[in-house]
Order: sequence, then structure tokens, then C-alpha cells
Amino acid sequence: MQHFLEISELSLDEIENLLERALHFKYQSHYPHLSGYAVANLFYENSTRTRISFEMAANHLSMKVVNIDLHKSSESKGETIEDTLLNLSAMGISHAVIRHSQNGLPKQLAHTLGNKIHIINAGDGQNAHPSQALLDLMTITEQKPDLKNLKIVILGNIRHSRVANSLQSLFKTMQVGELVCIAPKVWQPQIKPYGRVTEDIEDGLKNADVIICLRVQKERLQETEQFDLQEYRKHFALTPHTLKLAHPKAMIMHPGPINHNVEIDSVLVDCPQSFILHQVQNGVFMRMGILEGLT
Ligand code: CP
Repeated sequence: MQHFLEISELSLDEIENLLERALHFKYQSHYPHLSGYAVANLFYENSTRTRISFEMAANHLSMKVVNIDLHKSSESKGETIEDTLLNLSAMGISHAVIRHSQNGLPKQLAHTLGNKIHIINAGDGQNAHPSQALLDLMTITEQKPDLKNLKIVILGNIRHSRVANSLQSLFKTMQVGELVCIAPKVWQPQIKPYGRVTEDIEDGLKNADVIICLRVQKERLQETEQFDLQEYRKHFALTPHTLKLAHPKAMIMHPGPINHNVEIDSVLVDCPQSFILHQVQNGVFMRMGILEGLT
């Protein structure tokens, strides 16, 4: 791989190899020494999990890490992001981890910069969040490896979710048995790469093996979208009551950050069926696999 941009650019072999490497790193404390490489984190949007886990991953692999303070960078004086990356490359940065609000920007940068630097998409607008999807897959397969016989549900604000886009793409490649996206009409996906879509939570959650809740992204709502939080909770929140519709051993997942008692009740975030912190833990190992795969 030269760049890590979108799930749809990965073959089944590449996905399986990343899963294998991430699991290897999880259970083995002797890591490769990739000290000849240097990673720059460029986060134009806030992040806790993705930024810190890429930093931890790079540290485990003995890579140097630079967290760029974008308020103090020369982009504030009008320098382009392309010029910023070319200058970072000239200083010896080999990998740029980029989160940005503009859909498709990492892909555009990869096209412009070619082999001068490895571009890693850490979430672009509403388009893609491929490392999140892979760590979610890792978390699922650790518990329920028979993907072809699973019913997986993605619940919530699917239209605005880059995580949902990457998950749909990944579950298609992995041929997950059944994928159901549950959302109110206004948040249903405009493009449906895989699975079926419903606004009926009873039908959608019935016997689900895995439930991936999505954050209500108030910052991404359009002015045209009427949003009544109480009405949303009544029909679409994961609560102890709605969880009863799913398989008794259904996994509860959430990419974070969580709006407690909005899309999911607090009591479920921290219950035995919750794998939310397992996702966060696995994120470090999956990102080690991604960084290693780009050397
Ligand atoms: N899941 C996720 O991308 O979280 P952060 O925004 O904290 O990185």
C-alpha cells in the first residue's frame, strides 16, 4: 500500500492481513523497530481516540511522532495543505495521518503527492473512516468470527456518518450475512452500498448479533432537518427495553464519542454486553497494522 484512504481500495487479502497483524500485535509484546520512519498527525477536526491511538501505535513501532499544532502552523498564514505536506516530507516525515472536514481530501492529496509521503485517512467529512471500520471488524471477529452467519445492525445517524459508510463497504467485502441500517427517514443513507434500510427498530433489531450505535452528530445536521431529540430517543435509542429485541448475547458497540442517554442509555455503555472500550483498545493494534503496512 502507498496510501490508506478508503475501505473500497482494499482487497479481501489486504483486510485479512491487517486483521492478522493487529491480532498478532495484541498478543505479542515484541514489536518491529521501524525507527527510520516518522509520522505527522494533522487533525483539522478534534479527536481523542483516533489521534491518540495512531500516536500510541507509532510509538509501539518505534516511529517518531510529530503532532502538528495547526493553529501555530503556517497554514494560518495561507500556506496550502499540499505545501505543508511537501515541507513535512522534506524534513523526513514519511506518514501523514489526516483528519479533515472536507470529503475526499485525503484521496485528493494522495493523488497530488504520489509517493512523496504516505497519506492515512483518519476521517474525512461524511465520507470515510476506514481505520475505525477495521478496528470494529477486529472487535466483532474476536467474539463472533462466523461473519457469514451474523446479523449486524447499524443504528442512528447513518446519512452523516463516515463510520457507517466505511462499515457498509467493509461488511460487503467480508460478506456479512445480514446488515440492517436503522434510521429515521431523514438520516437514511442516500447511497446504499450494502444491506437493507429500515426505520422500524423492532424489525431491525430482531435477533441482531451485533448493534453498532452511532452518535447523534448535532454539528452535521442540516438546517432543513427537523430534529426532535425526545422523538428520536422514543423511536431509535438503544435502551434496556429495545436491547431485548436483539439476540441475548448481542454485542453493543459505539465508535465514540458517546452522547450518554441520547443514542444509547448510559446503563448499556458499561454493561457486560458492551464492547465499546474493546474497540478503543483494538484501535491501537489495528493502527499499528496500518502503519506497518505502509512501510
Ligand atoms: N471514533 C472516533 O473517530 O473518535 P475520535 O473522534 O475521538 O477520534
